[in-house]
Amino acid sequence: MIKAVRGTRDLLPPETALWNFVEAAVRDVFRAYNFQEIRTPIFEATELFARGVGEETDIVAKEMYTWEDAKPEEQMANGWLRRQSLIFRNALPSLSKDRPRWVVETRDTVFPLEAEIAPRITTLERLQSFSRLAREVRPNVRPLLLHSTDFAIGEQFRVEAERLGVELVGIEVDPPQRLTLRPENTAGVVRAYIEHKLWDRGLNKLYYIGPQFRRERPQKGRYRQFYQIGAEVIGPASAGSESPARDAEVLEMLATLLDRLGITDWNLELNSVGTPADRVQFNEALRKALDPVKEKMCGDCQRRAVTNPLRVFDCKVPEDQPIIETLPRITQFLGEDSRKHFDAVQDILRSVGVEFHTNDRLVRGLDYYTRTAFEFTHGALGAQNAILGGGRYDGLSEALGGPSAPGIGFAIGEDRLVMSLKETAESVLRRPDVYVAPLGAGMNGEAARLARELRRHDMVVELGDDGFRLKKSFEAATKAGAKYILIVGENEVKTDAFALKNLATGEQVSVPRAELVQKIRA
Ligand code: HAM
Repeated sequence: MIKAVRGTRDLLPPETALWNFVEAAVRDVFRAYNFQEIRTPIFEATELFARGVGEETDIVAKEMYTWEDAKPEEQMANGWLRRQSLIFRNALPSLSKDRPRWVVETRDTVFPLEAEIAPRITTLERLQSFSRLAREVRPNVRPLLLHSTDFAIGEQFRVEAERLGVELVGIEVDPPQRLTLRPENTAGVVRAYIEHKLWDRGLNKLYYIGPQFRRERPQKGRYRQFYQIGAEVIGPASAGSESPARDAEVLEMLATLLDRLGITDWNLELNSVGTPADRVQFNEALRKALDPVKEKMCGDCQRRAVTNPLRVFDCKVPEDQPIIETLPRITQFLGEDSRKHFDAVQDILRSVGVEFHTNDRLVRGLDYYTRTAFEFTHGALGAQNAILGGGRYDGLSEALGGPSAPGIGFAIGEDRLVMSLKETAESVLRRPDVYVAPLGAGMNGEAARLARELRRHDMVVELGDDGFRLKKSFEAATKAGAKYILIVGENEVKTDAFALKNLATGEQVSVPRAELVQKIRA
């Protein structure tokens, strides 16, 4: 049996009703704050995430679904060339220095070939099959350049090649484009902002709902395909994108949304991770503090201590935690502007009555954050307790080659949000108001006509089949959870009054066609 891939899952009814309930509330709330929907592709160029999210983050370093986007035959040719290059590179140490060298050049590699006659023939034979393959898949290939430091041997090679009928052509290996299933959506939104020059619109308030992909170890609340509901506020600073009012508005909107969904026991953790300028000093202090202790830490931390010390705070290894506890905190390094901004955000939150806690260990696992960073956690979620996370990314647009465009946003883990609802699928699902049961052969048409009328009045109607006996119709109606069953038999059609039975109370009445809607609604 073929099963859903590890870390992915099917969302089935009635569970999906909860997802719809959440998404309807989200769209309602976002509308009230004047956010509009954006839909970006599910895959993007790998480089977008490498540059946007950061090479040293767990997401980019370990968790992305990335592939090379080449046609199968191109993959074959490229693969062949790379394998050859590896073979020759591995053979290199055994080549003596005084022998003349052959060099094969492709656009991205240069590798020497053994120039002795016997290995040369193998090489030529390989080239023969390669040149055939190359011609088949890329008729317009550019020649592969073969150089020799020795003219005489070069000439021998040429003659030999001619004898074998080898055209000395190779393939130009354009590295195939690397693509990645999006692990998050902020980089994609900012890419779209730049690509479509959205700064012309001033301040952009955008939201998205959709799947994201990370190769994480699956567990409760953590999936390899998961869903995010996110929003981003981005635009030129002149449009107010940098104002602490935007940070506070986003946070207040989240509090409103969670309250509206009936999720009450959330906890907002707030920090400022400073500007890149603030972080220069902080990183230096971190490196200094890590230097004498990093040997005792996990491999990842040892690497991060050198390349990107802030990422040490992402470490989940229990043995490393006591060391991390002693490290300097960003709060001590915030410049005047960052400090003021952070204070202003907190003031507005107090003024609108949104509770929060500051947490100076919170740095978030993505490199683009600047200044405000936050997470909402929820007690009932267990180990994966972050229901959502976000923050400012004032330099992201520039890092992606765009103009200055400060921004702030968040993403809610929809899977986790649904897990923390008090509502049940049953409580939000709309079961059929009525099950229309045609009774006796030839009654399907009449029943369909009635069902159509009722559905026009915005009723949820399940329609049976005149092949069912009455008992089977009752069973089907009960299984569907219908409130009423409506019998459409010959007699009923003749008198234009229909037997309507309340499946909960057992009460049955005959109702004229014109009164059906009113009676079922009552
Ligand atoms: P993030 O913290 O990586 O931020 O993800 C946001 C939320 O997505 C998490 O708090 C969690 O609820 C959910 N999530 C993450 N990974 C998984 C997973 N494997 N399974 C289930 N849920 C998961 C971002 O993605 C940023 N783009 C947020 C943002 C938007 N920052 C600014 N704008």
